[in-house]
Amino acid sequence: MRSIVTDYLADALFRVEPDTSGQTAQYIPELAGANPESLAAVVATIDGEVYGSGDSDVEFTIQSISKPFVYALALADRGFDAVLDKVGVEPSGEAFNEVSLEHDTGRPLNPMINAGALTVQSLIGSWNSEPEDRGERVRQGLSAFAGRELTIDERVYSSEMETAHRNLAIAHMLRSRDVLTEDPRKVVAGYVRQCAVVVTTRDLAMMAATLANRGVNPLTNEQVVSGEIVRHVLSVMFTCGMYDAAGDWATQVGIPAKSGVGGGLIGALPGQVGIATFSPRLDEHGHSVRGVSLFERFSSDMGLHVMEIPSAASSVVRSNRVHDGERGPTRVLRLQGGIRFAGAERIVRDIEESGIDEARVVFDVALVFSLDAVALRLILEGSRRLIDEGREVYFVDPDGILARADVGDAVIVEELEDAVG
Ligand code: DON
Repeated sequence: MRSIVTDYLADALFRVEPDTSGQTAQYIPELAGANPESLAAVVATIDGEVYGSGDSDVEFTIQSISKPFVYALALADRGFDAVLDKVGVEPSGEAFNEVSLEHDTGRPLNPMINAGALTVQSLIGSWNSEPEDRGERVRQGLSAFAGRELTIDERVYSSEMETAHRNLAIAHMLRSRDVLTEDPRKVVAGYVRQCAVVVTTRDLAMMAATLANRGVNPLTNEQVVSGEIVRHVLSVMFTCGMYDAAGDWATQVGIPAKSGVGGGLIGALPGQVGIATFSPRLDEHGHSVRGVSLFERFSSDMGLHVMEIPSAASSVVRSNRVHDGERGPTRVLRLQGGIRFAGAERIVRDIEESGIDEARVVFDVALVFSLDAVALRLILEGSRRLIDEGREVYFVDPDGILARADVGDAVIVEELEDAVG
């Protein structure tokens, strides 16, 4: 059978193809000459399935899409305090290349605009690492996110260096405020090299899927950066990734995203998919025109907005009944789905409010596929209180969803019959 998702992507490309508005990046000669007709879309799931359509294996340079990934590497290399001390996390509402710093501290407002990305580039590796070492760390780090060895396009690098006046101006300003403490020209060179890393739309989707998968590359299974770093980076992408269009993007598309003037655009949907598009004609913000249209379409067609309200927490209690077995009446709560705070609150409220009379209570978690730490704590506390009141408590857990949790005096069994007799 032909893939339904691939057919959907092909149809989406067909619909945006007629839009030839915008222009390739004119300020970087090598990018100005890119084929404006290229068009691709790729969706990568967090278990490593990749669906692509169009020019998904055509190579281009990553440009600003490198920023969130290099930021993640700097956080891993230097830690949160050292990086946040130098670069803020506030949306600037300004263009990516605005020459702007916080008035009092001189800090760039966030790591997605160039001022922040230049500073982040200087924070790669150990505190005294040489620019060459940082370059290799960035290339290797981006490769780990992509799950394959990436290279640098030396022509695009040299071409951008010829016209990097604005980035040089920003870097000199950062140096004047001691945010940068080294030769600003070397920092610009490192940043321009990171922007010249060559990727395909497929690579970008995999990099986004690595973010969506808490930092674990779905193909190689390598933990590239920690889950804590990914949460932070995705938050900054959501609020700052689309620069002065971030608010429109957050409301209309609702996916943490990052664009690049090479024509790439990525979105990472936590726990679901990484998406990437490629089309080199840009709008006034420096975002791919057809890429933005594709993401708007994907978000509404596939219900991908992160603020979409999930099903009600009450749905985690599939049933709450009294079972009359050989051992007498037993209260059986059959739970289901993914349980987080609100779901667990609903479960313990059901116990508190239903005034359980039975001497035995069973939590059947056979249909539960995930239970986060706070949900587990709440349910175990409910169990402990039932036991304190003199009841027997059982967990039906055939798949070991409770893992190694300390269930105290409760009993874990494989089947409901084992608990109710
Ligand atoms: O710094 C620059 O101007 C480019 N190397 C990257 C800018 C970029 O991709 C902005 N994003 N849309």
